[in-house]
Amino acid sequence: MPATADRLTFFTESVIREMTRVANRCDAINLSQGFPDADPPAEVLAAGKRAMAEGPHQYAVTWGAPRFREALVKKQRHWMGLDLNPDAHVVVTCGSTEAMMTAMMTACNPGDKVIIFSPYYENYGADTILSGARPIYVPLHPPEFNFDPGELRAAFMQGAKAIVLCNPSNPSGKVFSLEELETIADLAKEFDAFVITDEVYEHIVYPPHRHHYMAALPDMFDRTISCSSLSKTYNMTGWRLGYVIGPESVIAGARKVHDFLTVGAAAPLQEAAVTALELPLSYYERLTVDYTRKRDLFLGFLDEAGLTYTRPQGAYYVMVDCTEFGVTDDNAFCRWMARTVGVAAVPGSSFFHEPVDHLIRLHFSRSEEILAETGKRLKKLKTLV
Ligand SMILES: Cc1ncc(COP(=O)(O)O)c(C=O)c1O
Repeated sequence: MPATADRLTFFTESVIREMTRVANRCDAINLSQGFPDADPPAEVLAAGKRAMAEGPHQYAVTWGAPRFREALVKKQRHWMGLDLNPDAHVVVTCGSTEAMMTAMMTACNPGDKVIIFSPYYENYGADTILSGARPIYVPLHPPEFNFDPGELRAAFMQGAKAIVLCNPSNPSGKVFSLEELETIADLAKEFDAFVITDEVYEHIVYPPHRHHYMAALPDMFDRTISCSSLSKTYNMTGWRLGYVIGPESVIAGARKVHDFLTVGAAAPLQEAAVTALELPLSYYERLTVDYTRKRDLFLGFLDEAGLTYTRPQGAYYVMVDCTEFGVTDDNAFCRWMARTVGVAAVPGSSFFHEPVDHLIRLHFSRSEEILAETGKRLKKLKTLV
C-alpha cells in the first residue's frame, strides 16, 4: 500500500474534538468544543425553511451569492467603517475555517514564514503546514496574554510574509487594544507583510473592551486579509458560512483558491442567512448583554469553586490555572476531570507552542442551567484532587 503524504505527520487530530468524544464517553458536561447551545434567531430559521422549499438548490456564484455579498457588505460597512464593494472585496467561504486556509494559500508561497501568536486556535498550525508555510510562534504571555513588542519585531525580522491575528482571541479571551493593533500594523508595514485576521468573535466582546478591525486602521486595508463567519454571531456553526474580505487584487486570488477548494458555500443557506445579516443593531446589543451575563455568571461559579483564571475580554472561553492542583500533565488532568468531576475541558497545552501545561480551557456558551450545574460540580474539584 502506498504511503500517505509526509505533511500529515506534522499535525495531530484536533484535541478539542477528541475532548468532545471523551465528554460523551464519560457523560460529562462538555465545555471543550466551543459551540453555542442556542439555535439561530427564529426569523433566520423561517428563512431557512423558505429557502429549502423554494431554492436555490444549485451552485451559487462561486465567490458568493450576490444577495449574501450585498447584505454582508452593508453590515460590515457599518461595523468596519469601510466602503466595501460586494463584487470586488468579498469571497464567501465554508466558514472561517475555509476562509483562513484560503487566505493562507493566497498570501503564502511554500516555505514562507507566518507569525502566529501562541496560544493559538489549533487550526492555524495545520493551515500553515497544509499551505506549505512555516510558523514562527510569538508568545502571548499568561496570565494577561500580552505580547512583547521586541519579541514580535524579532519574528518579523526573520522575514515573515504574514501574521495571523485572532481577535478576539481563542483560547485566551484577549481583545487586542487599539495600541497593540497599531504596533502590529506598524511592523507589518515596515516589513511588508500581510495581516490575516480571524474575527469570528467580533461581536462577542465584553465592555469596556471594544473590537477594532485591523483592516480599518490607516493604510492597512491593502495588506489585511480579514476572515470571519456567521457561526458564532448567529449560533449557526453547522451552516458553514464564512467569508474573506480584502483588497481587490488579493480577493481575485482568493476566489481562485476557494473555487478549487470547495466551489462554494451552500446556496440555500446563503440565501437564508441574508436574513441574519440584515438583523437590526439591537440584535448585536442583545448579544453583548446576554454574553456578558453568561460570562459574569460563569466567572462567579469559578470564584465559588476557588479557581484562578484570566478574565476574558471577548469570545466565550476562560483559561483556568490549575497550578495549585499540582498539574504537570494537563491532558491527564482533563481526562481525570471529565471522568471524576463530570466536566470536560481542553488541555491548555494543545494551544501553546511553548511548554505550558498548567492551564485548561472551558467554554461558557451554554445555557444558564448547564453553567449552574457545572458550577456545582466544579465546587467539588478541590476536595477530589
Ligand atoms: C478562532 C476561531 N476561528 C474559527 C473557528 C471556526 O469557525 P467556522 O465555524 O466559521 O469555521 C473557531 C471555532 O471555534 C474559532 O474559535
